[in-house]
Amino acid sequence: MNVNRGESPPQMGATGGPAVIATHGLTMHFGNVRALEELTIEVGQGVTGLVGANGAGKSTLIKILLGLNAPTRGSASVLGHDILTAGSAVRSLVGYMPEHDCLPPDVSATEFTVHMARMSGLPHAAARERAADVLRHVGLAEERYRPMGGYSTGMKQRAKLAQALVHDPRLVLLDEPTNGLDPGSRDDMLDLVRRIGTDFGISVLVTSHMLGELERVCDHVVVLDAGHLLRESATSEFMQETGSLIVEVLGGPSEQHRLGEALAARGLQCFPAGDAVEVSLNDQTTHDLIVDTVADLGQGLVRLQHRHHRIEDIFREGQASGRIDA
Ligand SMILES: Nc1ncnc2c1ncn2[C@@H]1O[C@H](COP(=O)(O)OP(=O)(O)OP(=O)(O)O)[C@@H](O)[C@H]1O
Ligand SMILES: [Mg+2]
Repeated sequence: MNVNRGESPPQMGATGGPAVIATHGLTMHFGNVRALEELTIEVGQGVTGLVGANGAGKSTLIKILLGLNAPTRGSASVLGHDILTAGSAVRSLVGYMPEHDCLPPDVSATEFTVHMARMSGLPHAAARERAADVLRHVGLAEERYRPMGGYSTGMKQRAKLAQALVHDPRLVLLDEPTNGLDPGSRDDMLDLVRRIGTDFGISVLVTSHMLGELERVCDHVVVLDAGHLLRESATSEFMQETGSLIVEVLGGPSEQHRLGEALAARGLQCFPAGDAVEVSLNDQTTHDLIVDTVADLGQGLVRLQHRHHRIEDIFREGQASGRIDA
């Protein structure tokens, strides 16, 4: 059910696949505010996280890619279309989930999603069918018939996601889809984001303040700091370089201590971390080495997980290694 898809020759991305988003020297100033500064990135297919603190320029980048704001200078293309000259082609291929509440309060999610599908050019029957499909997919059940003004934050986020998907886009730009969600709903939303990429083959650019929450759903991560590109790499590479693992075993402090000593004896860097041991990730063998050590000690493994990184940690790491050129 593809709507109005003007195809053009794909560009090649840094990963060898076609570039889904490519920017070159993209700069956006609002008076004295430098929202984006000489941003040159290439985003390939799959799920890409766009991470940065408040005011880093994430929403500004998304609005420029959609053709809603014209950049001060620089260029960009989305799915091979120039954003300055082919804005309507871009918007027909892209779904957008805005950061802020944009839902009309007096209509239901069903009415709204059907309306958005009709706006994208779908005939009425097809629009109703697609709307029902996507609302089911995002997990809005009976409440989809109620006016959206009475929705909880989680329900509003789901409705916003549904309207972004209804015209079967090739790329979705999701601006902070986990904003305002409790931990359980956050996990559900992240699973949905991942499934958009894996089950439907739709490329995703998703923003967040937290690298940690994007780590499990993104193939690639782009980190912005005050409008500048701080890092752009595969998530696995990122985690390998900057990550650590939290290991917890049964038996209380004495067992954690015994584990820490054994891990240190095998050459790993360990630190006490509350009821657990934090182990610096050296390379891909670290994980297996920990599992083997726990087994050799005859301990019961309770938890083995990546430490969640706050974006501030990445800034500190970037500054320490001189990667910030601001
Ligand atoms: N329309 C505007 N007029 C003036 N300044 C703006 C405008 N839009 C964005 N800015 C400024 O540009 C900078 C980047 O803002 P942007 O909204 O892109 O950040 P963000 O990374 O999305 O932040 P958040 O995580 O808070 O959503 C900020 O300093 C912001 O105040
Ligand atoms: Mg924003």
